[in-house]
Amino acid sequence: MGSLIKACARADASVMARVPSLLLVFVAFTHYDVAGEEVVSTPKPLKVLDTIMNPSYIPAEEKHGFYWKKSAITTLKAKLRESKNTNKAKNGIMFIGDGMSVATIMAARTFSGQLERGLGEESVLEFERFPYTGLARTYCIDAQVPDSACTATSYLTGVKTKYGVVGLDGNVTRGSCHSQLHKANWAPSIGQWALEQGLDVGLVTTTRVTHASPAGMYAHSSERNWECDADVPKECLSLGCRDIAYQLVMNNPGRQFKVIMGGGRRELLPNVSDPLVKTVGRRVDGVDLTELWHVDKVEKNATHQYVTDRNELMKVFNSDDLPEYLLGLFKDDHMDYHLKAKDQPTLEEMVEVAIKMLSRSKRGYFLFVEGGRIDHAHHDSLAHLALDETVEYSKAVKKAKLLTNPDDTLIVVSSDHAHTMTVAGYPSRGNDILGTVDTALGDDRKPYTTISYANGKAASIGADGKRVDVTLSQQFMKSKFCYYNYLREAGHREFSFRIEAAIWGSKVEDLTDTTVK
Ligand SMILES: *[C@@H]1O[C@H](CO)[C@@H](O)[C@H](O)[C@H]1NC(C)=O
Ligand SMILES: *[C@@H]1O[C@H](CO)[C@@H](O)[C@H](O)[C@H]1NC(C)=O
Ligand SMILES: *[C@@H]1O[C@H](CO)[C@@H](O)[C@H](O)[C@H]1NC(C)=O
Repeated sequence: MGSLIKACARADASVMARVPSLLLVFVAFTHYDVAGEEVVSTPKPLKVLDTIMNPSYIPAEEKHGFYWKKSAITTLKAKLRESKNTNKAKNGIMFIGDGMSVATIMAARTFSGQLERGLGEESVLEFERFPYTGLARTYCIDAQVPDSACTATSYLTGVKTKYGVVGLDGNVTRGSCHSQLHKANWAPSIGQWALEQGLDVGLVTTTRVTHASPAGMYAHSSERNWECDADVPKECLSLGCRDIAYQLVMNNPGRQFKVIMGGGRRELLPNVSDPLVKTVGRRVDGVDLTELWHVDKVEKNATHQYVTDRNELMKVFNSDDLPEYLLGLFKDDHMDYHLKAKDQPTLEEMVEVAIKMLSRSKRGYFLFVEGGRIDHAHHDSLAHLALDETVEYSKAVKKAKLLTNPDDTLIVVSSDHAHTMTVAGYPSRGNDILGTVDTALGDDRKPYTTISYANGKAASIGADGKRVDVTLSQQFMKSKFCYYNYLREAGHREFSFRIEAAIWGSKVEDLTDTTVK
């Protein structure tokens, strides 16, 4: 193992500042005994081969082999004590961290530990405690790297499809209204299956409720960007193709969802120039879908509530009389990043309200929850926000676990694709995950950030044609809140690459008879 790491370190020598001459020094002062064991000829420690770590602190117990052996035994014993839960789940909750790559999870766990003033690396996100873990291949049938539309279709309907397509199988052509209208192409979602089994259904997201991932719960759209009628070509509208917001409110299964929460008000509201209207919608058909949602519930004689900020939501939550239906649209566009938000509920709060609403159902429920803005922060190379959104997502998972019983509730936590955020080598334990590497410089003798993006919006090459020194940037050093000065290739357009997504399942069991096969 040691030699493997050294070999990798040497292979990296052209990228990072290495000191190969030290290797010779080391060899010169070392000889090998007959068993091949290294015997150092002087009692003093020799110079180490390369990077010397400089941790601020190492917990004393971690320095002893005994601690690690005990930890392994404790873990193994706990694993062996686990019994397989063969119950049939009454309730299902699916969490998706949009764009939450494995590297994001590592960085977010470190970040969350550092927030709590621990070192960070040893911290564990809530879903990392779950008993089962797996990896999924996330390509679309026509794309190497998927988008959130084809992946939502895949994990919510069980059908892999084409890039940019929601709730339709691969027989469609993206953007073709004809293939969207052809019902044999429709891929019904787990939300619909759950309704057919008499379960209640809800969705919660931090993006627009009409965005690709939540749309997978209710829409059949050959183009993910047809979020409101203004986006749909006129000829498609005249053929009867409906935008995603319309499908949410007016069609099944969206019409029957007991809980809908997120952003995206503008996709449901008409574009009217009335100075009294505080939200200007995007719809050109003049329809106010929040009003049609209300009319639909009145016709069903169902109690219902439409809320637009955190206060209104908390009033509903704290009332003795929860409505049967709840529509919460907290922003015109996506909800704000948690760190920048005012007057909007957190993902954790929305999940708590949704579970309170849905757990009244005698037959059970299915809830879809998306931490949707991890992806957006990554698109803009805003690592701090991406990590914070991931921590918020983990808090929401924790809340769901607290409020439910594993005997009757299956919680699955996953991602839909990854991003190009990477975590570079040689930071010491406890080094600020959002900072620069403390022990090494690049080949150009400039510091480099632990986190970097293989592509992104800002150039990492300065006007002099050389790599910028981020430690000289006020924005980077002082305003970590929204800096984005990680290493990037110059001139690349913002573009996302995604790799495989990990799945954490709290229990392996059937959700309903129609669980994804
Ligand atoms: C595929 O979609 C087209 C419409 O675009 C339809 O005419 C055809 O019947 C579909 N094929 C199948 C197998 O459903
Ligand atoms: C509303 O319509 C006007 C006129 O077509 C347009 O300029 C404006 O951008 C629209 N507003 C929104 C929010 O779509
Ligand atoms: C709604 O309630 C009214 C009055 O209680 C009743 O007359 C009507 O039949 C109900 N409609 C439905 C669809 O349940």
